[in-house]
Amino acid sequence: MRELGIGLIGTGFMGKTHALAFGAVRAVMGNVPTPRLELLCDTPLEKASQMAEQFGFTRATDDWESLVTDPQVDIVSITTPNHLHREMALAAIAAGKHVYCEKPLSLTVDQAQEMADAAAKAGVKTLVGYNYIKNPAFTHAQALIAEGAIGDIVHFRGWVDEDYQADPDLAWTWRAKISDAGLGALGDLGCHLVSMAYGIVGPIDSLIADMQTIHKTRHLADGSGLAEVENEDTASALVRFKNGAQGSLSTSRSAWGRKNRLTWEVHGTKGMICFDQERMNELQLYRNEGPVDTQGFTTILTGPAHEPYGAFCPAQGHQLGFNDLKIIEAAAFLRDIGGGTAAHPNFTDALEFERVIHAIASSAQSGARVTI
Ligand SMILES: NC(=O)c1ccc[n+]([C@@H]2O[C@H](COP(=O)([O-])OP(=O)(O)OC[C@H]3O[C@@H](n4cnc5c(N)ncnc54)[C@H](O)[C@@H]3O)[C@@H](O)[C@H]2O)c1
Repeated sequence: MRELGIGLIGTGFMGKTHALAFGAVRAVMGNVPTPRLELLCDTPLEKASQMAEQFGFTRATDDWESLVTDPQVDIVSITTPNHLHREMALAAIAAGKHVYCEKPLSLTVDQAQEMADAAAKAGVKTLVGYNYIKNPAFTHAQALIAEGAIGDIVHFRGWVDEDYQADPDLAWTWRAKISDAGLGALGDLGCHLVSMAYGIVGPIDSLIADMQTIHKTRHLADGSGLAEVENEDTASALVRFKNGAQGSLSTSRSAWGRKNRLTWEVHGTKGMICFDQERMNELQLYRNEGPVDTQGFTTILTGPAHEPYGAFCPAQGHQLGFNDLKIIEAAAFLRDIGGGTAAHPNFTDALEFERVIHAIASSAQSGARVTI
């Protein structure tokens, strides 16, 4: 297959992960279509040019509209703040490009639906950056559940905590503004937990929730006064899955000490499995079998037996990292575009995750149980 030209918009936290992933994916995986780092966009142009040189892109621009219509670009990667995703994705889809977009898809369910509809109608491939479900530890947990290792699933409890908004003295940023960020902790963090709950238990049927904004105002960085924090710092929901299992989901961006505590445990009729993203190369498995005095948790360290770990490293327990998840994600997308297995979550799948975070916000505001 011919090479696929990459057009990347944004060079921040996620922009770098996409650039690293497309730069390394052929060397790591081998059997994927070859990405060509074609065009990089950021503003101002000097920044775009400097980062293009650093990341290894051929050209740079400060005009994303010219990037999405560039004839040398086949895949548009969108790693800009949330409020820009919709406009950029719709323009890329209209130009017939495949789109790899960071989560959340957009600010509202209606906007995300519009994006999913446009992609389906145009027949282009899409992928959304729910990278944690690409972890070999996660896919191994799915395999264990599918083979019946813990019996029938009855209960899922998960939470995702960070402390990047815990300090009351931090300055106000766009992340606190609904028209720029959309939801707060739910849109930033909670949606990742939902993607994992879906992968472990399945779709959520209904929920009842609560949420709070702990720090209601923050000082402006220029010292000109205070601005309102419009979205939530914490949220919690009691959920009922479509298969009858029950669960709870909780998130905070103001949880001192927690750096990326995306963690869950799933209980079955024969055992349980625990995962914690701060120890992302491990699973804890408990099985109710054997003599009672030998029962206990098994720590499973990921290794070459858990694909595609072996593509990175031939030895168990040597550990993958966050950026490696993006390489796995990029490989899935390139294979899909090249005619291989469909990559997930596409825009339609991501819309289902994001319905849940908006349902949590809606239930918290109304006080009523919400059916998804
Ligand atoms: N998948 C994950 O685990 C994960 C983690 C962090 C962030 N994210 C998501 O990634 C997105 C970006 O977050 P981030 O932390 O990388 O932000 P960031 O602020 O580090 O980077 C954003 C980049 O977009 C650029 N940009 C802004 N407006 C632009 C425009 N008009 N044209 C071109 N470039 C423009 C900025 O200059 C910056 O380089 C968000 O949607 C966020 O939710 C996902």
